Amino acid sequence: MSRLRLGVNIDHVATIRNARGASYPDPVRAAEMAIAAGADGITAHLREDRRHISDADIDALAVIVRRRGRPLNLEMAVTAEMEAIALAHRPHAACLVPERREEVTTEGGLDMVKGHNTIAPVIARLRQAGIRVSCFVDADFEQIAAAKSAGAHVVELHTGAYCDAVREGSPQADRLLSGLIAAAAEADRLGLEVHAGHGIDYETVKPIAAIPEVVELNIGHFLIGEAIFMGLPAAIARMRALMDEARAEKAA
Ligand code: PXP
Repeated sequence: MSRLRLGVNIDHVATIRNARGASYPDPVRAAEMAIAAGADGITAHLREDRRHISDADIDALAVIVRRRGRPLNLEMAVTAEMEAIALAHRPHAACLVPERREEVTTEGGLDMVKGHNTIAPVIARLRQAGIRVSCFVDADFEQIAAAKSAGAHVVELHTGAYCDAVREGSPQADRLLSGLIAAAAEADRLGLEVHAGHGIDYETVKPIAAIPEVVELNIGHFLIGEAIFMGLPAAIARMRALMDEARAEKAA
């Protein structure tokens, strides 16, 4: 089984900064610290309403990840504005996500079936610029097949519903985990690289990390929250250890 990469999403450092309209805490400093603590990459979502990450943050993040030799994964809505920003920066990866202004967070996967014909040309242009393109989708075979046919390199499976179910003690949790396991196998069978993310915490990380086809997790909100109590390096180190434990247990 391949080593599982950890992408640390630093959006919510910017959320705290923006709550006061201040210049701190600085998400770029968090990215530097996350890399020093073992993050394999940095993920940031430049939302259309700029509620957390700003254009200037993306400019600065692009510089520091290049300096540290780590990939930047830019989460972006499929809009002309975001496409232009991605093409100007050429991050290692772009993760296409659905975005609605009124939502608190990304609530579901991208509808690749309905959006196929508008999203495929965007994927083609990003690919042509050398960007690895990921589509954030629900654990749904039709969505995964549509991402493949639209030209994506990667699907990132939306783990939010499973993680919420575990936290709520819902009997749906096992079914949702089985759905993620089957979706990862299907995406791998189609030749897609498989990532997973959204809502992952110390309790839910191990079952997700044990899915053999998953090669990258993108985790943000929980890690930034834990950083308040134990510091960012320790929060990341604990997540990394749980990921490695899950992989080792699965391989044994
Ligand atoms: N992956 C994607 C595509 C996302 O949109 C998000 C949230 O920005 C994450 C991963 C990280 O989710 P969380 O902040 O809940 O860990």
